[in-house]
Amino acid sequence: MLTRQDFPEGFLFGAATSAYQIEGSDFGGCGPSHWDSFAARKGKVANGDTGARACDHYHRYGSDLDLLRGLDAYRFSTNWARVLPDGRSVNQAGLDFYDRLVDAILARGLRPFLTLYHWDLPAALAQKGGWTNPDIARWFGDYTEVVLDRIGDRVASVATLNEPWCVAWLSHFLGQHAPGLSDIGAAARAMHYVLVAHAESMQRMRARGQQNLGIVLNFEHVQSHDNTAENLAAAARSDAIFNRWFVEALTKGTYPQAALQGLQPHLPAGWQDDLALIARPLDWLGVNYYTRQIVAADPGAPWPATRAISGTLPRTDMGWEVYPQGLGALLNRLTDDYTGKLPIYVTENGMARADHCAQGTINDPERWRFIQDHLAQVRQAMQNGANVKGYFYWSLLDNYEWAFGYDKRFGLVHVDFDTLQRTPKQSYHRYMAAFAA
Ligand code: FCB
Repeated sequence: MLTRQDFPEGFLFGAATSAYQIEGSDFGGCGPSHWDSFAARKGKVANGDTGARACDHYHRYGSDLDLLRGLDAYRFSTNWARVLPDGRSVNQAGLDFYDRLVDAILARGLRPFLTLYHWDLPAALAQKGGWTNPDIARWFGDYTEVVLDRIGDRVASVATLNEPWCVAWLSHFLGQHAPGLSDIGAAARAMHYVLVAHAESMQRMRARGQQNLGIVLNFEHVQSHDNTAENLAAAARSDAIFNRWFVEALTKGTYPQAALQGLQPHLPAGWQDDLALIARPLDWLGVNYYTRQIVAADPGAPWPATRAISGTLPRTDMGWEVYPQGLGALLNRLTDDYTGKLPIYVTENGMARADHCAQGTINDPERWRFIQDHLAQVRQAMQNGANVKGYFYWSLLDNYEWAFGYDKRFGLVHVDFDTLQRTPKQSYHRYMAAFAA
């Protein structure tokens, strides 16, 4: 079993959450976000669930944070719609909440790892086109400054955005997240503007002297269904859109050719001119990793003309195959091809399981195995040269799992969504025993 002692001094162990998934957006003057509008559309979110109450973390953050005592760091996000309910004007009660929250994180000896955007775009900005509107960069820059004016003096690190692939592609091409579009033009603009917004936010933070700035990207291990030329090419397209687009722009100032093939005709005029700013140095890269994808060509489908092939490995409750080797391979690939010595944090990794609470206990040995197997890969990758500095389990609590509503449980801690009672799972106890200081 791996414990803290198996990792270098200074390696951070933590857990992650995001604002809309746990806080409860009905409280404290929070405005509507595009997730509220999305959930109101028929068939988009399981049971039409929203984050209205979620885990009621807004009122229970103190006892929730107590659960993390002994770990090194806590990754959380601020909700844009709580801070700027109409997209422009400040909700002081929202800032007050984050002010208290950061103090409470620090009071428990945890380093606050802030993410500025984990998908809660104010509905008012979504109505103006959201991530497809070039003004999003200025809106996001303004929001960045409002948040940091209040808590920038106390956070240990800042990520601009969580998972731009989800913000852009999953939400504007695959239609599975808010705003639920299936439009290559909107998707291409969002793929670019999300990076322009990152660049604007970074520039504003650098100008203020804010330290330790990064971004959180998601990756999957992409494999071709077989060795035929058409399937290999399909896998390369998928890899370019999913894994390479963002990291290549951020570290090299280019977009991969296999993705440009289909996206270039839809990119806004002058897109090349933004890349120099997008590629300004990061202080660290956040890596979210859950699974692999097996890809085949689907010649009848619109570009990128790919389809997912189902693999034969054991799956989590999300239906995602468990493939720890992909994390090790990814960390070394990133190091070799893109990030070099840049510090990497595994900012999310975890599994959903249909956990049931029986007499106050939840036995989830698969989750502990999952964590151990992925950490073994992290360690191996570090021995091969990857500069990994920390690991955050997703998630501290069972929470609002986006389009799956409350049906999928990723937490180390079980939440009963009727009573809101928290019950630490067996994996929580093991995680703390192995990794808390
Ligand atoms: C990631 C998200 C996070 C959660 C996990 C399961 O894509 O960042 O909010 O939904 O997946």
